[in-house]
Amino acid sequence: MSSLEAFDFVLFGGSGDLAMRKLLPALFYRHLDTAPNQGWRIIGTGRDALTRDQYLAHVEENCRKHVPAGDFTDDAWKAFAQCLNYARLDANNAKDFDSLAEWLKDSGSRIRVFYLATAPSLFASICANLGNAGLVTPTSRVVVEKPLGRDLASATRINEDVGKVFTEEQIFRIDHYLGKETVQNLIALRFGNVLFEPLWNRSWISDVQITIAETVGVEGRGEFYDSTGALRDMVQNHLLQLLCIVAMEPPISLEPDAVRNEKLKVLCALRPFTDTDVGTKTVRGQYRAGAIRNKPVPGYLEEEGISPKSRTETFVAIKAELDNWRWAGVPFYLRTGKRMDERLAEIVVNFRGVPHPIFPNGGEGGANRLVISLQPNEGLQLEVMAKLPGEGMQVQRISLDVAFAKTYQMRQWDAYERLIMDVIRGKLTLFMRRDELDAAWIWLEPIMSAWDRHVTPMKFYPSGTWGPTAASALVMREGHAWHEEM
Ligand code: BG6
Repeated sequence: MSSLEAFDFVLFGGSGDLAMRKLLPALFYRHLDTAPNQGWRIIGTGRDALTRDQYLAHVEENCRKHVPAGDFTDDAWKAFAQCLNYARLDANNAKDFDSLAEWLKDSGSRIRVFYLATAPSLFASICANLGNAGLVTPTSRVVVEKPLGRDLASATRINEDVGKVFTEEQIFRIDHYLGKETVQNLIALRFGNVLFEPLWNRSWISDVQITIAETVGVEGRGEFYDSTGALRDMVQNHLLQLLCIVAMEPPISLEPDAVRNEKLKVLCALRPFTDTDVGTKTVRGQYRAGAIRNKPVPGYLEEEGISPKSRTETFVAIKAELDNWRWAGVPFYLRTGKRMDERLAEIVVNFRGVPHPIFPNGGEGGANRLVISLQPNEGLQLEVMAKLPGEGMQVQRISLDVAFAKTYQMRQWDAYERLIMDVIRGKLTLFMRRDELDAAWIWLEPIMSAWDRHVTPMKFYPSGTWGPTAASALVMREGHAWHEEM
């Protein structure tokens, strides 16, 4: 890996959950692996009046939790801690930015990253205060975390507020799913091989399924989640971004706009929903009490921070369709839910059966399947038909399996490690452009509006299952089945 230029990393929300669970452990790992790394300066900011030592103790405690003991050595921690600092800062108080200015004053033309790991309601004041304090240099970049708005209008406001201070090339809208190794491997698989591309269309693919299933519930984020729901939390960003990578045309290069233009075309090709479509092609669900791995768990309405009459969905299944030449008539089934039977994220590409089965038990029609696993293990499985050993010509499905952890025998980077490095290097390819975000909201708005008007009833599912039965019916109606039901 090429060396990194010196940088200053300002982490707003520096003692928050995301910073402690993901961002600081990711920076710790990159610091451990990157040499030379003397030019790193990281400052966490937050409203708590902490001393530097108190902040370091808090970061250390969390890094220990999230970094395996073998990697978290005293030497590695000491070296990382030297880069770390803390500033008490109220995002709404312009005066508080003076201490930040003081800390940054001799940074010259070093790269500056402002990472906004805060509630989006603070983005406008943070950006305005950074601008007014003269802290935004030509080598600055800002990273904004989802959810960027709750509809097109609020997303537009956020983008305009951030855009008053930073240019579009300085804005890194992060979706950590794009930083997952397998997602990038999907790009490599599609565009680094000749095998798949000729088959990657409506003539050979019958349906695509994208599932992100979680076993966790709202995990202490009840209030946030209850005002957000699965559609905004997962579909608007992660699931649609995965759909874009599966469905996009080959970009002419990996340059940011080459890739993002192709993703945008996919989002614009999504067929808009009418109220009737929302009734027949979407399922929204909410979990009830149940058991996960035999351990009883409460229902959504019993969780902390959730309004007892909440109609917020914790499960979504959607049949999406793309109106373009490549994908006309191919359903893209999107599904996500909390408190499901397994933690699993995967993309399943089901190919059509052979045109004329000649084997006695060719009942399955020889349908090939490509399973791209993102979680819990990253890997690829290509299911092909092979002859059963022995007499006769019986065929059966076998799997050509690549588990990345086994193949590469090296630690897999967390998505945030890769994305943070891309921010520092100024590589925008894996970040969402504003028009992509707008297009995603435009597509979702009719669904949100119909749900608000109760066009589709809420379906309930016991925790520890694969969601409401209506989700199975959604795919069955078309003669398909979810992967785990096949
Ligand atoms: C986040 C959502 O974006 O993604 C969470 O806000 C969700 O609700 C998380 O749990 C899932 O990410 P991962 O990488 O653990 O699958």
